[in-house]
Amino acid sequence: MKDASETLESLLKEKRSFSPPKLFSAAAHVPDLKSYQALHTKALKNPDAFWAEQAKALHWFHPWEKTLVWDAPNAKWFTKGKLNVSYNCLDRHLKTQPHKTAILWEGEPGEVRKLSYQDLYTEVATFAACLQTLGLKKADRVILYMPMIPELAIAMLACSRIGLIHSVIFGGFSAQAIRDRVEDSKAKLIITADGGYRRGKIVELKRNVDQAIQNTSSVEHVIVYQRTKHEIPFHPKKDFWWHELTAKNKNLADALPLDSEDPLFILYTSGTTGKPKGILHTTAGYLLQAHVSTKWVFDLKDDDIYWCTADIGWITGHTYIVYGPLSNGATTLMYEGAPNHPHPGRFWEIIDRHKVSIFYTSPTALRAFIQWGEKIPHEYALSTLRLLGTVGEPINPETWMWYYSVIGKEKCPIVDTWWQTETGSIMISPLPGATPLKPGSATLPLPGIDAEVVDGKGNPVPPNTGGFLVIRNPWPSMLRTIYNDHDRYSEHYWKKFPGMYWTGDEARRDEEGYFWILGRADDVIKVSGHRLGTSEIESSVVSHPSVAECAVVGIPHKIKGECIVAFATLKQGHVPSPEMAQTLINHVAKEIGTIARPEEIRLVPRLPKTRSGKIMRRLLRKIAAKEEIVGDTTTLEDPSIIEELSKSMA
Ligand code: WTA
Repeated sequence: MKDASETLESLLKEKRSFSPPKLFSAAAHVPDLKSYQALHTKALKNPDAFWAEQAKALHWFHPWEKTLVWDAPNAKWFTKGKLNVSYNCLDRHLKTQPHKTAILWEGEPGEVRKLSYQDLYTEVATFAACLQTLGLKKADRVILYMPMIPELAIAMLACSRIGLIHSVIFGGFSAQAIRDRVEDSKAKLIITADGGYRRGKIVELKRNVDQAIQNTSSVEHVIVYQRTKHEIPFHPKKDFWWHELTAKNKNLADALPLDSEDPLFILYTSGTTGKPKGILHTTAGYLLQAHVSTKWVFDLKDDDIYWCTADIGWITGHTYIVYGPLSNGATTLMYEGAPNHPHPGRFWEIIDRHKVSIFYTSPTALRAFIQWGEKIPHEYALSTLRLLGTVGEPINPETWMWYYSVIGKEKCPIVDTWWQTETGSIMISPLPGATPLKPGSATLPLPGIDAEVVDGKGNPVPPNTGGFLVIRNPWPSMLRTIYNDHDRYSEHYWKKFPGMYWTGDEARRDEEGYFWILGRADDVIKVSGHRLGTSEIESSVVSHPSVAECAVVGIPHKIKGECIVAFATLKQGHVPSPEMAQTLINHVAKEIGTIARPEEIRLVPRLPKTRSGKIMRRLLRKIAAKEEIVGDTTTLEDPSIIEELSKSMA
């Protein structure tokens, strides 16, 4: 983490403000700041009544009894209600708009597929029936390790249709990461593809799966979608081809009436220990907030072409490519590949080709576009855009201004949306027709969300003072637990500030109550917006036989937001060398995936420790970022180490 005071200073200079365009407000679901405030105040006064009112937007097979049973930190929303996520995303749109495009897909090599709501329903119900014939039962776990193709969404919706719990693994993760998740979830089935395309190359998905499950026992079958048609190992007893299974099947599976609190999915994410956390979301609360937040924040209209560029392997893709847009009956665009393949204007070309009106991306992507030059987006009309969004990391005001002027032509509001895997849906964000924007601020909490910035004792801090970001009331799409580790759930999120949810972020509010997110307060690093834990990377470095000890820190990076620098000591008999450092870098990339590849590994004689033996990462961060070392270093076991380490970075 940067020193809060430094970030504070740079952000405090930001005085620009942009009101919503009049025409935009006139047509918006929430048309002005007053309406937002009225909604928010009403929601905080009586949250149960508020959420009960919102829940009418969903289709229920059976009404719920109690809106919320809250036995902190355990929440049950919409008790005894029965509903189905896939029914809400598909079946209920069949009468009103069967021919509307649900998924508009573009592959990296350039193919385009359009699936109407009718098509998508048929695909999902067919595939769900196939899953039933394989003997899968409600609450079984299914891992999805797939490219960004419609079949990934189809598989998710098929699972939710019959009560299977899906766990999507980002296609950029490698075999070890899959193995950890298989072992934790005890998944019975993996759905994958022969491969996927990324920058013109094939990603070996099926081979990674085979390697991952070599010595695991839970996985009974692997379903393989044929995407690249290249040669892969195929084990006739264990493996099935997707196209063969579906061709044989003649049934359409009904959407099962599931309980509000039946688990919908597990999504593994990095925390502060080496073990990834299985964040568990359940049916009704998650779907409700995915649904209403999509409607409010993206101000969806019937003819919008909506594009979220995230990968479905992360929470943003779950909520804002699949469940939010489809439950609203929207057209959601999905793109398989990289933003600069085969040329750096690919995103802008897609926007023009498909007449995209809402575009939701990450600050990292924007920083890369800035570096590639304004000339590139200027070659495209971008005239269909009406709303822009960002997510995943703080957006610095200059990047925001570039987005606003070069991409949005100063006519599109920007929604800077703050949220987390754990929150399930957007928590702090402008409502585009209502909220005046300030570049770099996620602005105000959504209706019903009681966000606050507090000091170490849990008391709200005065305006413009940095502190810890907390949520003071439960909300429907909150995580329910960490899979297999409920104690860790209570401990990690609810103990630091009793009765409040601790986000792990630092923030400040300005005199108008606007939130400015400063970054993580814990050992989570955001590399290109992807969430990685320092200790996961440390474990991976240390798993190399020549390494004795390792400490990993995140430092600012021009494009990626943050990048990884590792400090490691070697075991006796191993000699530090640039080749050794490179070997270790490759080792991490192979173990976890290239997103976790350290920018640099410094081989040092020893690590800075306190007298009680704790590694002082704060110092390492400063040294790696070549910043001046201020603050208390008296707890260091041996202060001379600072000079020794600084030299190693020269
Ligand atoms: C960070 C991503 C600043 C934050 C949806 C949070 C942001 C973490 C923003 C969660 C934003 C997300 N401004 N920081 N608009 N959105 N973050 O679980 O540190 O991958 O705690 O969820 O991303 O990351 P996650």
